[in-house]
Amino acid sequence: MTPNDDLVLAVQAARIAAGILQEVPRDDIVSSEGHDIKHSADKKAEQGILEVLLKNSPYPVLTEESGEHGALNDGTMWIVDPLDGTLNFSRGLPMTCVSIALWKEGQPYLGVVYDFILEEMFTGIVGQGAWVNNVEIKVSAVNQKKKAVLMTGVPSLSDFSQERLTRFARQIQAFKKVRLLGTAALSLAYVACGRADAYKEDGIMIWDVAAGAALIKAAGGVVKFEPKKRKWSCLMIAGANEDILEGI
Ligand code: IPD
Repeated sequence: MTPNDDLVLAVQAARIAAGILQEVPRDDIVSSEGHDIKHSADKKAEQGILEVLLKNSPYPVLTEESGEHGALNDGTMWIVDPLDGTLNFSRGLPMTCVSIALWKEGQPYLGVVYDFILEEMFTGIVGQGAWVNNVEIKVSAVNQKKKAVLMTGVPSLSDFSQERLTRFARQIQAFKKVRLLGTAALSLAYVACGRADAYKEDGIMIWDVAAGAALIKAAGGVVKFEPKKRKWSCLMIAGANEDILEGI
């Protein structure tokens, strides 16, 4: 399969998931523990995506809800979050999306983030470019933190300790504005198209950021990714350029 075939497949899977999500009752929360919730929509949409990817692609798939499908040995794999911004979805907040990535050799390569509320399909392939609804996008030219918008979030598994919150406050001081949308995937897509300039989240799960990171790289930005001790969690720092990311 060519990279473009992979992109067509990921877009097809994202549209199928979105169709399923539009039919699920918004209040069908199946569990709620700590700072996390589980919604019936995540599993239903994931099933739709898996059917498309496993049937039509040779690569293994890692998903938020059901884990690993196939052997993930050489770092080439699909990484899927069927519904990022689950809490937003359940409350009718319009920031929510489907996120599908293809990583190669452990690095972001192809990304699809579908905002099915605004009907914005973000797509990108590293080395080829990035698009929203087929119109080319690029990261912003902002290269000073005091002029920059930082997108961030508080991971569900965060301990909310005084120390962590103080570190967070220190981090955002240098930026002009900070935004917490409640969806890491869409936040990264917004950095990829220049609506914001940087993104950082420590302890985020890889399926939340895999596609958005690929979009930023494909749109000319910088991505720094460091796996953490908890399996599939990571530190993700990404932005328009190195100057914006320095020291964060
Ligand atoms: C959440 C969002 C949020 C991030 C949380 C994630 P979910 O994903 O990506 O931006 O801060 O850590 O859990 O649970 O809504 O799919």
